[in-house]
Amino acid sequence: MQRAATVSQIAALVSGFDPGPAYRGLADALRVVITDGRVPVGVRLPSERQLTTALGVSRTTVARAYAELRDHGFLASRQGSGWVTMLPQARGRRGDHLLPVGDQPHGKIDLTMAAHAADPCILAAYRRAVDQLPGYLAGAGYHPAGLPELREAVASSFADRGLPTDPDQIVITAGALAAVAIAARALVRPGTRVLLESPTYPNAIATFESAGARVSGIDAGHADSGQDDFAQVCSVPEGSGPTWAGDVSAAAEQLRPAAAYLVPDFHNPTGALRSAGERQQVADALGRAGTTAVIDESFVMLNLDGIPMPDPFACHHEDTLTVGSLSKSFWGGLRVGWLRVPAPRMDAVVRVRLSLDLGAPVLEQLAATRLLEDRHLRGQQLRDRLRASRDTAIAALARHLPDWSVWRPPGGLSLWCRLPEARSSALVAKAEGYGVLLAAGPEFAPEGGLDRFVRIPYSEPEEILEDAIERLAAAWRDTLGDPATPRRARTVRGSTALVS
Ligand SMILES: Cc1ncc(COP(=O)(O)O)c(C=O)c1O
Repeated sequence: MQRAATVSQIAALVSGFDPGPAYRGLADALRVVITDGRVPVGVRLPSERQLTTALGVSRTTVARAYAELRDHGFLASRQGSGWVTMLPQARGRRGDHLLPVGDQPHGKIDLTMAAHAADPCILAAYRRAVDQLPGYLAGAGYHPAGLPELREAVASSFADRGLPTDPDQIVITAGALAAVAIAARALVRPGTRVLLESPTYPNAIATFESAGARVSGIDAGHADSGQDDFAQVCSVPEGSGPTWAGDVSAAAEQLRPAAAYLVPDFHNPTGALRSAGERQQVADALGRAGTTAVIDESFVMLNLDGIPMPDPFACHHEDTLTVGSLSKSFWGGLRVGWLRVPAPRMDAVVRVRLSLDLGAPVLEQLAATRLLEDRHLRGQQLRDRLRASRDTAIAALARHLPDWSVWRPPGGLSLWCRLPEARSSALVAKAEGYGVLLAAGPEFAPEGGLDRFVRIPYSEPEEILEDAIERLAAAWRDTLGDPATPRRARTVRGSTALVS
């Protein structure tokens, strides 16, 4: 039977929608609740007349809002059933970038990305950016270091976090990965040693490798080595694992790498947050080794439990290139990120940047400026939703896969699960048959290994996660019961075209 949303449910969900113009504000508010799963697909909405009365707006407002949602693929108008929610076919899904047209992973739950749908404020920021754009059209539109107002907004966001920053130290990029690529090319020559955590963000491994680096993976505190340092199922982690700072410091002093790429603020994939003491210990060791830090702060705004944040890593180590982005806190589709560069390295970094591209798009930079200026007002809704999804995913894992172990990360977007057997690659292959796509542990390992782990992002709505984890449990049983599955799966990265 078709489900229906009551008029009071919908009125409560869209209350406070942006009134200027009202039809658009209402359409935006409805689009957000459909996209984030609060109103699931296939639900009948109240009639135009009912919603008009409940919201105290004109009938035209509701009719135009519904028509706009229909035109963009979020509503279907069905004879006899009224308006029914849907999601645009394929548009906006990741698969369309990776797979040939027509080869969309239809009906599959895609957990290969730790990335979420756009924050509700994105559309308003873009609309304001369009209004501002005429003021920029008289210029050539090339801003290799970024729009001055965005560089200022980024610098002031660092200053707010206790790291005084001159806007001249900021280079705006097309996302965080582009910033990592610039840093890699500025610091690495063929054969240069670079330290990375293991596990770490897979595309950063690929970026450093393609710059010619010899990568060394250092235990990020949640790897194969210590059964005992792992929390009980679903317990709260204490700090970030006992060995991280010691291991990174020892490796830096022993290997004297040119660069160390670290993610101390809600690490991908473990979600770990490194304490001030750990940062200082690592910074001291990097200083003694003459190592430049490349610190990826992509997840810094996803502090789900509202815990007090330590100072940015660059407060402890001057020779630090800090990478940031709006992808995880607002939307990956913005493609706006940045590098904070120590003044003496700025010329070299800008030269490298100019060898790769000539700047980020002006419209997106204007939208990003607005989002950053309003950052204190934004993001709570997203964090609340992610916290609920994280807790739902942990509860579902405890229910369906009680012999798996998982930290409850204080922030970020994913759970790093330890399996009772090292068969993550086999599980990922099996899971596809159960309609779930995900990335195996070895994807996150700079030097192989980690087949005992699998990452589960919790960026999808709760009901999808519950469904995905139930399917994963079936896939896991199948993996264990299938004698044809190799017990020691390969540990080579690269089977997934893109892991976020
Ligand atoms: C640690 C880390 N850095 C960078 C990125 C890429 O960010 P962007 O979309 O801004 O390029 C990701 C994406 O998942 C990530 O996890």
